[in-house]
Amino acid sequence: MSAQLSRRSFLKLGAGAVASGTVATVATGANAAPTDTSKTILPYPRKVVGVANRMAVNTPVAFSYPDAASPCAVVKLGKSVPGGVGPEADIVAYSTLCTHMGCPVSYDAANRVFKCGCHYSIFDAEKDGQMVCGQATENLPRVALEYDETTGRISAVGMEGLIYGRQANVL
Ligand code: FES
Repeated sequence: MSAQLSRRSFLKLGAGAVASGTVATVATGANAAPTDTSKTILPYPRKVVGVANRMAVNTPVAFSYPDAASPCAVVKLGKSVPGGVGPEADIVAYSTLCTHMGCPVSYDAANRVFKCGCHYSIFDAEKDGQMVCGQATENLPRVALEYDETTGRISAVGMEGLIYGRQANVL
């Protein structure tokens, strides 16, 4: 074999090397875990939304979470409920955007539900924001809360359920 490569041989070798590199790259990609590009994993902020022993029973307090464009309400229900936090496990919080078409919901203290005035959906504040009746098909997104026994502070730390109109809760 000649010590010198002809132009033709050189080009053939070059093409082979490029092809090998391509195969190696594809093989490496095939072994990698698939990435779900439709999801973003951004951290939720922590935000103090009340102090347990200063909250009036059955009186909602408005706040926004996880950002200023997402209205929510925290309520001390006065009796222990599933998922409730605080000394009496009775404090809950929800997004106040209706899951049907995003109208604001308001708290009905007599029935302990959130009501939407647009198409009359009703959500149970004592039962995880469960949709009771109306046009909505999803529960109200619930704000995950934490209680600090030392200070009495109630903090929002996350959301369970997708806020109306969003593809991700944290933008
Ligand atoms: Fe609330 Fe339609 S927007 S029921």
